[in-house]
This record gives sequence, structure tokens and C-alpha cells, in this order.
Amino acid sequence: MQPAQLDLARYSVRLDSETDFTGWRDAARRLALNEVRPEDISWHVAPNSNQTDLPVAPAGAQLVVPRDFIERAETAFCHADPGRFGFLYRLLWRLRAEPKLLAIASDVDTRRLEIMEKAVRRDIHKMRAFVRFRKIGDGDGERYVAWFEPEHFVVERNAAFFVRRFTGMRWTILTPHASADWDGERLAIGPGAAKGDAPTQDDIEALWRTYFENIFNPARLKVKAMQKEMPKKYWRNLPEASLIPELIAGADKAAKAMIARMPTPPAPHHAKVQARHWPKHEPAKGVEDDAAGSISELREAAKGCRRCPLWRDATQTVFGEGPDDARVIFVGEQPGDQEDIAGKPFVGPAGKVFDAILDDAGVDRQKVYVTNAVKHFKFEPRGKRRIHSKPNAGEVQACRWWIDREFALIKPELAVALGATAALSLLGKAIPVTKMRGQVIEREDGLRVFITIHPSFILRIHEPADKEAERERFLHDMKQVKWLMAA
Ligand code: URA
Repeated sequence: MQPAQLDLARYSVRLDSETDFTGWRDAARRLALNEVRPEDISWHVAPNSNQTDLPVAPAGAQLVVPRDFIERAETAFCHADPGRFGFLYRLLWRLRAEPKLLAIASDVDTRRLEIMEKAVRRDIHKMRAFVRFRKIGDGDGERYVAWFEPEHFVVERNAAFFVRRFTGMRWTILTPHASADWDGERLAIGPGAAKGDAPTQDDIEALWRTYFENIFNPARLKVKAMQKEMPKKYWRNLPEASLIPELIAGADKAAKAMIARMPTPPAPHHAKVQARHWPKHEPAKGVEDDAAGSISELREAAKGCRRCPLWRDATQTVFGEGPDDARVIFVGEQPGDQEDIAGKPFVGPAGKVFDAILDDAGVDRQKVYVTNAVKHFKFEPRGKRRIHSKPNAGEVQACRWWIDREFALIKPELAVALGATAALSLLGKAIPVTKMRGQVIEREDGLRVFITIHPSFILRIHEPADKEAERERFLHDMKQVKWLMAA
């Protein structure tokens, strides 16, 4: 059949499922290469229809579309809008003549694509935050089942995330459109289910409630913002939701009690600030903004950092903390598991050692600025645990952007490199830390960098006498730092 004859034809494309992007892509390619106009096509979901009546692509013909279109179309494809198949084809059609179309923010189709992507990403994020598993069975039969009602078709898109987060559990997530099942080795995507198929009560219920009661921060209560983050429609499937009205009502009194009990408890693992599928072309607001005039503005900009891929799996950016006129900046390696959740540097086990030794040395942590060479937690998931993984030179280099700006704003007299990664970041080259500890290296810009070990090194020593000796050496280093601060 010649393309000229196809112009008048009307094609009915039958996709295998609501999420059959491969089927859509194949059909769209064939139709576009045969010059079939958007208005001549109707799109349907018709499982197992084995369609054979679409025109084949002319031999050797290439469909050229901008590189990021397919990635963006795949995200928008998860939207519940029944008109999305035709809409995406229209966009594809227009892109052939207008390759810069996606950069025209005022264009109605570009805008619609953006809105759809945003809605899908938000739904992905909500699912990650609000899926609650309930235990069924015991021993070998133990598994976890959750019921969730996403607004869009995001189950397939999100399944890999749940596999990574809950690798060690056997679980099933049921939704009206699809189910995802992980048996500890294999992920299977199956048909949708009914709410009644999922259990509603178990011992974990009480645990969630206790957990939520503890993370609820009445001092920061903003009912509207909270409802935006945790919309009411999700409440009915959350065990902790029954506490919300009570917690809101008691907030004022509770706030006073809580202020007395600072610091703020950590945010949950699930409440990831960032959604994995945010495309690279959409940097978070302010991330490329070089105009931050204060540490708090810089901290705000760093929340959306995408300079290296570590933001994808970390909970949040852990920025430096301390006075913005501090005379000394301590630089660690990267946040650990607890820092990642709390959003603050050096609050976990290494931080406790660090605090105690600083205290013994007479250095007031409140008066110094503490930050990390890399600002996102890098880890390997191992079952339910997240095992620290050393950042590589590229990640350290990418994060130099933030460190340099922290130093430029604070203008300290001294930097303390806690370990090899910090030394690499501050000096731009690898330093033999154990050999050079206690020494001060002056950079070309005049900044003095004091070299010492990372406090987690002390934690890793098992032999008590060796541990104590190392602690003493680190204390000695910190006393030197105090002396240098005063000098
Ligand atoms: N280790 C670091 O280097 N930084 C932290 O914030 C915590 C542990």
C-alpha cells in the first residue's frame, strides 16, 4: 500500500493494555512513517487482539524525534487520561516539523505534556510514600500485602523501586489496575484486584501508628501543607490516619512538650523528597542558580541538586550546618544512613564519636560549621539495610560545586579534612591521610587545610586498647585544631 492512499484511511490501533507503551510506540512509528495523520487514527485498549492490519514502515525509513521525547512520552503514557494515546501521537506528528516544540513552554501541547508528566511523577512519589504492607502468614509462608489506589497507571513504573527497598521481603501490591508481586527473586506484574483481596489488620498496624505518632511534629504543623503531602484520599488505607485528627487537635499542647525534647525526629525512609523518574531536563528550582547570597539560600538550592546520580536513591540532600561566619569548617565524607533520614550531617554513630571528642578537646560544635564532601547518601541496599558505599572521584568532583560555595560564603580561616574523601575534595588530589594527619596544607587560595582521619575509623576498630589509642590520637588532632582556631 502506498502512503498516498493511506491518507484517507482510518486506523484503529488496539493496544494490549493501558501501559502498553511498546505497542503504542511501534504503531506510532509505523503510522507516522506512512504519513497517517493524527485525526485518521483511533486508539483503544483491547488485550490480546493480535493486530495485523497496521501498515508496515517503508523499508529503510527512519523516524527522527528529539532524544528526550520518548522518555517523556513514556512517563506521560502512565497518565489516566484516556486521550493520551492520540495526544502523544499528535505531539510526535508535530515534532517532525517542529523539532524544538518541547522547548516552547507556551505551546498548548508542550504544556499538556508537562502537566501529565508532573501528575504521574507525583503519583509515583505518593505511592512510594503511602503504600502500607500488612503481614499475612508466618514462617515460610510470611508475606506482605498492600492495597493502594493510584490515580494513574504507575504500578509497573514503580515496581523496581519497591523491589530495591524491600528486597528481603516477599510482597504483593494490589491496585485496581495492576498488581506487582515479588517472591524474593522474581517480579511479576499481574492484573488488578479488588480492595477486599487485601488484608486490613495485623500487628504492623500498631507499629505504623506508633511510628507516625513519633514522627509527627506538632511544632511544624501546617494542616494545609500536610493535607497536600498526605491527601485525604490516601488516609483510608493508612493505619496511622486515624490518629491525624487527634494529633492536629492536640498540636498546640504537644508542640510545647516537643520543643523541650528537641532535636526533631527523622523523616521516614519512604518519604523520599525526590522521585526517581524526574527527567534530567527538569532541574529542580534554583539548582543552577549561582546567585545564592547566603548559606540558607544555598541550602535551599541544594535540595534539588542533580549534579550526580546519587540524588536518585538518597532520601534528601544533607547540607552543611553551623554558623555562617564560622572560623572553621569540618568536612566529612558523605551522610550516612541516619544523616540521610534526619537531613543533618554527623548525627549518627560517627557523629556521636565526633561530638564527644570535640567536646573533650574544648571545641564547641555550635560554633563550627560541619559539612560533607558529598551531600547525598550513597549506599548498597542489602535486604532491609542500606550499606554505606564510598563515593567515587566523579561524585566528589560533582559536589565540589557546593563545597566551593559554602567556603566562599563562610570564608573560614581553617578547613579540617576528616578522612581521604574530604582531603580529595578540598585539595583536588589523593592524600595519604594516615601519613599526613596532623599536618596543615595551604591551598593556592590561602585556605589552610588540616588533615586528619574520619571519626568512623575509630568506630571500626574492635580491639579496645587500639580503639582507645586511636581516640586519643584524634583528640590530640582536635586539640591542635582548637589551637589553630585561636591562633
Ligand atoms: N560520615 C560522614 O562523613 N558524614 C556524616 O555526616 C556522617 C558520617
